[in-house]
Amino acid sequence: MIKISNLSKVFNGETVLNNLSLEIQDKEVVAIIGSSGAGKSTFLRSIDYLVEPDSGEVQIDDFKIEFSSISKEQILQLRRLTAMVFQQFNLFERRTALQNVMEGLTEVKKFSKEEAEKIARAELTKVGLAERMDYYPKFLSGGQKQRVGIARALAMKPKLLLLDEPTSALDPELVGEVQESIIQAAKQGQTMLLVSHEMDFVYEVADTVHFLDKGKIVESGNPKDIFNQPKTERLKQFLSNNKRFGA
Ligand SMILES: Nc1ncnc2c1ncn2[C@@H]1O[C@H](COP(=O)(O)OP(=O)(O)OP(=O)(O)O)[C@@H](O)[C@H]1O
Ligand SMILES: [Mg+2]
Repeated sequence: MIKISNLSKVFNGETVLNNLSLEIQDKEVVAIIGSSGAGKSTFLRSIDYLVEPDSGEVQIDDFKIEFSSISKEQILQLRRLTAMVFQQFNLFERRTALQNVMEGLTEVKKFSKEEAEKIARAELTKVGLAERMDYYPKFLSGGQKQRVGIARALAMKPKLLLLDEPTSALDPELVGEVQESIIQAAKQGQTMLLVSHEMDFVYEVADTVHFLDKGKIVESGNPKDIFNQPKTERLKQFLSNNKRFGA
């Protein structure tokens, strides 16, 4: 189980995360929705300490840290337990798809080259890239690059997969193939925390949805209730800007 407690972050006097807490069960897919500037990316990036929160705690099974007194060793451990899929892919341009996926396995997990290659090939095959393993990123489409990003993250067997708008940099016709890879990972029991503004996709993949507004969770529930029976005015207003779910 993953427990995030009382996370706070102030940027230049602006409270971006306001004492945020949430829990994620094993194999659960939790989605965060909210307007631009609500603090979604800051929240996600705080969890693996790409952003340094001012205070708060994270517990992943029996590993527990307090951000106000986190040690270097704890930061490394936190990053071993989580993996991030970035909007802009962040692949190494001078390495093939296969080498990109192998990197973390040999450098962080210290697997032998043979073991790493076996795992990397299996993960790339799962996301439909068996035929593209030896391609460099510049010869891959945006959707293929993002599937490499997903394979790379899944290869690390993270306790928690963090995805920050994984399809928002893609041409519309490439969104579906990436969403399908995420749905497959969810079906295989990968625990995830997803930020997305694609409400249809959130509706389909998430077990629990949290609506974030000004650094606070305003409303939470299963997708059906959140999208079909929003309770707060703020969420109703947010959804009314969306074609499918707007009242
Ligand atoms: N490194 C930073 N320095 C200063 N302010 C920041 C920094 N990162 C984020 N902010 C501010 O924090 C607030 C929340 O930003 P954040 O990126 O978390 O929003 P978001 O919900 O992810 O928005 P979007 O949907 O546009 O991606 C914004 O007002 C932003 O300007
Ligand atoms: Mg963001």
